[in-house]
Amino acid sequence: MSDLALQDQENPQNSKDSQNDLPKTPQKVHLDRRLKAAAGFVRLDKRIADVGTDHAFIPCFLFQQGARALFACDILEGPLSAARATMELYGIPEKKGDSEEGISLFLCDGLDGVPQADDVIIAGMGGEMIADIISRCKYINEDMHFILQPMTRDWFLRRELYKMGLYIEQEKTAVVGSKVYTIMLCCYDGIKREIDDKFAFVGKNTDKEYLGKVRSTLEKMSRGDKKYADILAQLP
Ligand SMILES: C[S@@+](CC[C@H](N)C(=O)[O-])C[C@H]1O[C@@H](n2cnc3c(N)ncnc32)[C@H](O)[C@@H]1O
Repeated sequence: MSDLALQDQENPQNSKDSQNDLPKTPQKVHLDRRLKAAAGFVRLDKRIADVGTDHAFIPCFLFQQGARALFACDILEGPLSAARATMELYGIPEKKGDSEEGISLFLCDGLDGVPQADDVIIAGMGGEMIADIISRCKYINEDMHFILQPMTRDWFLRRELYKMGLYIEQEKTAVVGSKVYTIMLCCYDGIKREIDDKFAFVGKNTDKEYLGKVRSTLEKMSRGDKKYADILAQLP
């Protein structure tokens, strides 16, 4: 089973019907620690957009948690087909009109053409791409939350967020196998700020696993440029 395992094998509701081997009730979506950490920051009673949704694991999980305004967005048809397949697997309809229940799917670049959302999740992309998508958001406002999980260049993303008038409210770490991720909950107040090097690299994450990852990144970077050794020396 992949680390994005779909089955909750401990859930007694998932027992198979002995006659036709089909689940009696739809199974619960199981998220790995990375996606679960991101989902944990989401406000279920808000309008939620998952940008770069791919298999729509997070929107399906949130639907099962009670969220009802869900936009699953991707730039490619293939991932949206995968999203439809996940929704079908869990018995979650595609919402096409206002009155229907389910998840709305959008084939789009970033948030282009996506209705106003309150909570925007962007997970599993590089820090530059995440920053670019936020910079193109046409309806950013102070009530919005951005839940971000960069795969690379976390320090670049933090700098750009603060330059755009966002700030990090909280960060948490998810460890999946040998990989360590930081998940950021960000808010917007429109005040543009410069951040220092140390904050760019560690942000508000104080977990030893994440600090260990930052240390080893800075060690590698410092071989090419001594300024990173100076940042490394400032780490706790
Ligand atoms: C690596 S997957 C991450 C999937 C999921 N969010 C996760 O964290 O596991 C990245 C997804 O983002 C989509 N994507 C890349 N650039 C995008 C953009 N500008 N707008 C919307 N989706 C994008 C890709 O098509 C792909 O499905």
